[in-house]
Order: sequence, then structure tokens, then C-alpha cells
Amino acid sequence: MKEQVILEVTGLSKEFEIKEKKFPYKTNLLKAVQDVSLTVKKGETLGIVGESGCGKSTLGRLVMRLIEPTAGEIFLNGINMTGLSGEQLRQKRSGFQMIFQDPYAAFNPRMTVRAILEEPLRTSRIPKEEWQDKINRILELTGLPQDALKRYPHEFSGGQRQRISIARALLLNPGLVVADEPVSALDVSIQAQILNLMKELQEKMQMSMIFISHNLASVQYISHRVAVMYLGRIVEIADSDDLYEHPLHPYTQALVETIPIPVPGEGRKRRRLSGEVPSPIHLPKGCAFHLRCPYASEECREKIPEMKEYSPGHFTACHKHVLET
Ligand SMILES: Nc1ncnc2c1ncn2[C@@H]1O[C@H](COP(=O)(O)OP(=O)(O)OP(=O)(O)O)[C@@H](O)[C@H]1O
Ligand SMILES: [Mg+2]
Repeated sequence: MKEQVILEVTGLSKEFEIKEKKFPYKTNLLKAVQDVSLTVKKGETLGIVGESGCGKSTLGRLVMRLIEPTAGEIFLNGINMTGLSGEQLRQKRSGFQMIFQDPYAAFNPRMTVRAILEEPLRTSRIPKEEWQDKINRILELTGLPQDALKRYPHEFSGGQRQRISIARALLLNPGLVVADEPVSALDVSIQAQILNLMKELQEKMQMSMIFISHNLASVQYISHRVAVMYLGRIVEIADSDDLYEHPLHPYTQALVETIPIPVPGEGRKRRRLSGEVPSPIHLPKGCAFHLRCPYASEECREKIPEMKEYSPGHFTACHKHVLET
């Protein structure tokens, strides 16, 4: 059987207009996401990793249709979401949910956990007599106690609040969940618990997930495939283990090298990244990474590299992608 594609994104771009504060008040274009194409299959977690400002959250928001793309299309279950608006969009959007870094900001502090969980049920077609069963099930799945229902978000720890946020997102069995840095704000000791919970629920519910983080180790742990972003573009995409063991793009290689090695004595040669990330308003010509790349050549300074398949399912956009790792 052919694997079912839940999400397909083609040529997605987002430019923000930035007005200069000084005369002559020129408007610049900030290219936050550039020509991104990807698919997410049923029951698959796709990780998105990259440094701060590389466009991860913008990509997540585009996929959720929370912001309008400048170019490109988004298909969810084969339906083109790009042309939808108003009630149509609201209906289709119920099939996907988002989990944020700071769940507290996403909750109304005056609502009890019961009211928070009942909100998505209210707009669903689920009859009222089934609500309690649904709520009980999700409490159990997310490891929240029954008495949580009458309490308010501020009465919980950060980790438990993120459980509430996960419970709300998963309550209606969404086909796709976009999780944007869901553990980054949590205490390190709690991060693993929440990561494990998300991984377990993803498998149990066979949902598709986009997991966004700047931390390659957690992305690699939870994802089946990983996409690496640099200045708005995907520069490499591969199966999680393949990406970690055979990174092809010099940027991915540098990211992998920053992951600490658990076995003492097994050192790894480190190629620390030098130089600053260029501004997404004034992108350099050619490959956006060439200013920091130890292998950059004339071609890299002139031409934007295209995505090419190096081995089955392993794509990278680098003129030098056959480099030894
Ligand atoms: N609404 C907006 N208006 C103008 N610029 C924006 C807007 N949203 C994002 N940007 C810019 O787009 C670029 C990408 O931002 P984005 O938040 O997607 O990055 P990110 O990878 O999620 O970063 P982080 O790891 O810090 O969360 C940044 O340069 C950011 O300043
Ligand atoms: Mg972000």
C-alpha cells in the first residue's frame, strides 16, 4: 500500500515588509521562508531544526494557515488549503493543531482546565454526552489527574501546563500537529518527560507531527525524518539516523558536531561555525551559507544550490554535497 501523504507543501515562501524607521522610510523585504517544499506522511514525525531566526516558526505558522504565504501551496489530505478562507478554512483547520513553547500564553487564565478542554469540543460535532469520556481518556493519556479539571493553569508547573496544552491539542485526534519548541521553555529534567510523552502519543494515535526545535538532539530523538533550515531554506532533509550519521551539508555537519557525545573518550572532531548569520533582509548572493562555509568556492558565491537526492530519501542543497563527513 502506498504511504498516505497528510501534508504536502510546495514552493512555500513568506516575505515580511519591514519599514525603515529613518528617512527616506524605505520598505525592505525580509525573506523569512524561501521556496520550501516538503511532505509529511501519515503517522510520521518530521523534525525542523535550525538556528534562531532561520524561519522555523514562520514555516509552522504558514502550514497552520495562521499567516498568508507570499508564494506556494499547502495541501492537507489532498485539499488545497491556500485558497480557503473564513468558515471553510475553520472547518478544515480543525484537522490540525498547534502546540506552543509557552502554553501559559495560549491559555485564558480565567478558564479552568475543564473549560480549556471543552472549548474544542464545543465547536466539534461530538454530542455532549460523549464529552466526559473524551476528557477522561485524554487526561489518562497525558498523565493528568482527574482533579486537574477544576483547577486553573497558574496552579500547575510548567511541565504539567504543557501536558494540558498537549491534551487540548490531541483531544479531537488531529491528523497533523505542529509543535513549535514545545519543550524549550521547560526545566531540563522535565524536557525528557514531555518529549517521551509526545513520542508515545504520536505512536499510539498514529498522528503526523511537525516538531520544531533549535535543539538537534531532541529533534533527532522524536523525529522519523529531519529537515535542516538555514536562512529560510531547507538545506538538507533525510531520515533521522541517516542525517545524524551521514550529514552532507556543511551546516548540518557543524550542527551534528555540537551534540555532546555520551561516551567519554569518544571525541569528535569539531568544526565550529565561524562568522555571523547574515541578515534575512540583506541575503548574500549565491548559497546563503557560503560566508560561513569552510568549503565555499566561486560557484557557491554565485549560484543558489538546488536540492538533489544524494541517496534514497536523503536530499541536500549544496554544490559540494559529496564531501566526506
Ligand atoms: N511578523 C513578522 N514581521 C516581520 N518579521 C518577522 C515576523 N515574524 C518573523 N519575522 C522574521 O522572520 C525571520 C524568521 O523568524 P522565525 O520566528 O520564523 O524564526 P525561528 O527559526 O522560529 O527562530 P527562533 O528559533 O528564535 O524561534 C526572522 O528574521 C524574524 O525576525
Ligand atoms: Mg521560533
